[in-house]
Amino acid sequence: MSSFDLNAYQDVWRKRLEETLGALLDEAGHENGCPKQLADAMRYSVLGEGKRLRPFICLGALRSVGGEEEKGLHAACALEFVHAYSLVHDDLPAMDDDDYRRGRLTCHRAFGEAMGILTGDALLTQAFRILVQGVPANRAAEAVELLARAAGSSGMVGGQVDDVQEMDHVPSRDEVERIHERKTGRLIEAAARLGGLVGDADELRMEALGRYGQRLGLAFQIADDLLAFAGDEKALGRPTRSDQDRKRRTHPLAVGVEASRRRATALVEEALSALQPLGSMADVLSAIGGLVRIRIS
Ligand code: IPE
Ligand code: IPE
Ligand code: MG
Ligand code: MG
Repeated sequence: MSSFDLNAYQDVWRKRLEETLGALLDEAGHENGCPKQLADAMRYSVLGEGKRLRPFICLGALRSVGGEEEKGLHAACALEFVHAYSLVHDDLPAMDDDDYRRGRLTCHRAFGEAMGILTGDALLTQAFRILVQGVPANRAAEAVELLARAAGSSGMVGGQVDDVQEMDHVPSRDEVERIHERKTGRLIEAAARLGGLVGDADELRMEALGRYGQRLGLAFQIADDLLAFAGDEKALGRPTRSDQDRKRRTHPLAVGVEASRRRATALVEEALSALQPLGSMADVLSAIGGLVRIRIS
């Protein structure tokens, strides 16, 4: 599995993802009633330097259950729309108040605060319009429920709410992880499961994909904390002081840098072990685990 060429795979599928994202944004932007400023802000927030981690996990999961990636492109783009919305709102002055994202001005700094809020709203809503194209009809309701739960009040939004609360004590590892697994982990878990749903996977495979996404998602947010802690602005795509300045509950703050690194590495190993029932078909997912491992070290 380690011989799998993820770069070559990503070159092919990144192109299809970017084309599909662009086409979906064009379609939304050309609809009668969509203001040009909103269409521009949506494009600005989705297109550009994103790693497209969630779409690739969705496509990799679909492939791992024997499906064709082409059928998962809309679901993958829906995940990226939700993710882009979450970043736009996360950067707002009332939240993390960040000026840069993906190497350029944040949406609200480029288009104004009201547009930042509304662009996020539009992307989230649009995601649910495109989500089910490609999902088999018998699994479509499940797909909507999955994404809504992952992104909503007991998932990403719930995690973000706890994350922005004032910190009055140094958090424990469990407290931080409880936030991380909702604010970041749930959408990554949903990406893996959604790929399974597009491929009409059975319960055993869905569980394996869910466990992989859950463990990997937590590891990914710990890696993000570590990069911010280490001041790696290039890898992060934004200035790195904000977690400390805003007194955020980060993993290294709870347990220290070395223990954080060990924990994240162990979580990646758990994610990879979860792929066992999928065998060699999980080559993409396995290679993505390797990428997260590199991000940690
Ligand atoms: C950043 O996510 C926010 C987190 C949830 C850690 P990514 O690191 O996936 O951001 P992009 O999409 O590549 O910009
Ligand atoms: C981002 O968390 C999580 C979501 C956007 C849901 P952070 O605030 O830690 O991520 P970055 O570091 O700004 O990308
Ligand atoms: Mg935040
Ligand atoms: Mg932030």
